[in-house]
Amino acid sequence: MNISVIGVGYVGLVSGVCFSELGNKVICVDKDITKIEMLKRGEVPIYEPGLKELIDKNVKAGRLSFTNELSESVQASEIIIIAVGTPSLPNGEANLQYIEQAAREIALAINEYKVIMTKSTVPVGTNEKIAQMIYELTEHPFDVVSVPEFLREGSAIKDTLYPDRIIIGTDSKPAEQKAVELHSTLTDQIIVTDIRSAEMIKYASNAFLATKISFINEIANICEKVNADVTLVAKGMGLDKRIGPSFLNAGIGYGGSCFPKDTEALIQIAGNANYEFKLLKSVVEVNKHQRFNVINKLEDLLGNLSSKTIGIWGLAFKPNTDDVRDAPSIEIVETLIKKGCIIKVYDPIAINNFRKVVNHENIVWCDSITDAAIDCHGVCLLTEWNEFKEVDLKNIEKLMKLPVFIDGRNVYAKERIEETGLNYYSIGRPDVNQSHIADFIERVK
Ligand code: UDX
Repeated sequence: MNISVIGVGYVGLVSGVCFSELGNKVICVDKDITKIEMLKRGEVPIYEPGLKELIDKNVKAGRLSFTNELSESVQASEIIIIAVGTPSLPNGEANLQYIEQAAREIALAINEYKVIMTKSTVPVGTNEKIAQMIYELTEHPFDVVSVPEFLREGSAIKDTLYPDRIIIGTDSKPAEQKAVELHSTLTDQIIVTDIRSAEMIKYASNAFLATKISFINEIANICEKVNADVTLVAKGMGLDKRIGPSFLNAGIGYGGSCFPKDTEALIQIAGNANYEFKLLKSVVEVNKHQRFNVINKLEDLLGNLSSKTIGIWGLAFKPNTDDVRDAPSIEIVETLIKKGCIIKVYDPIAINNFRKVVNHENIVWCDSITDAAIDCHGVCLLTEWNEFKEVDLKNIEKLMKLPVFIDGRNVYAKERIEETGLNYYSIGRPDVNQSHIADFIERVK
């Protein structure tokens, strides 16, 4: 099939590349000249494992190309995928400016029947509005289909090529046929729904996953008070098939470009329909507080944090991405700076993106894990990168001024910590090496 993908952000670029990998002829379109020029030179504007190799392969095979010319590529395509961003407005609602702009330009370019698929996450009713807008601007036939995207950063290619399910929201048989045909090699689990239900499935799925995370984080906070271990609790819960083991990792809460934005947007969608989504409001509230546990633990141990040096391991909102959008690390570092700390930060790949968001004279930019431990009064691990899992903790302890280690992602087993003298605090698990506390208090003095 000939496909145009409008928007080369995460969803657009990965979808476009994967559809070309499946043998379709794909043109990726974006207004951003810099991004398109980069892609034409073989450079990839986002960090996603395996993406560059797939781009090179499919460009070489003549199945994938990049352009700023929307109208030409729309005319050359039978399917047009809208994958532009829907960032948050200050009140939490989704900003539909880019969607509307894309719809208008598509409408003006249409020359024959087109199937327009929306992959951007949009509030319920948006696809109908898009259809109405296009209808008013063209005499040519078309259908608008909602095909929400569920890919995760870091595993985006696998998620796109091997999805758990494909949702196709449409009330048109010809559009349904085209959409099913396009996705049929990916999975047998293709669910066809009305447009509004498809739009809702995306928000409800993200809200549910966010709920699981806030739920386990609250259980972790209770575990700390009653001396239980949340990792064992999650394991025991997850074996119940009705609950399932995933998204039960307690930590410093969720970040990223989707959960924070989509949970706020669903609260707004409900509010606009005169319904207060109380449960989801609490999920968001719990998530906002969870990240501060790291700072509370530091203060419990070190007292006043002013002029203390704190190492921060990991800035990305999760491993295998350089994305720091809504990453808990941002607020943690900003708060520590306000408290007068010197912060030594290290992340394998997200450091440049972080520097664009938070830059302060109290931040020391480190280029290794050990560097971000030397002379620190405490280290906080905020992203569970593999290289942190493999580090020699005994050596780290030697480099630090005081051996306080806050593991915000429950990365290390108790046995590994017991081999060290680190005073180790994680999330919802019993603290390790409390026997060293007398010695520690002596050193803090
Ligand atoms: C998410 C959805 O998973 C995806 O379906 C949707 O299309 C976009 O949003 P993504 O934001 O890439 O994907 O990351 P994900 O792996 O879902 O993690 C989101 C956040 O939740 C991260 O900050 C992660 O650290 C956190 N998380 C995840 C937990 O704190 N605990 C968990 O058990 C799982």
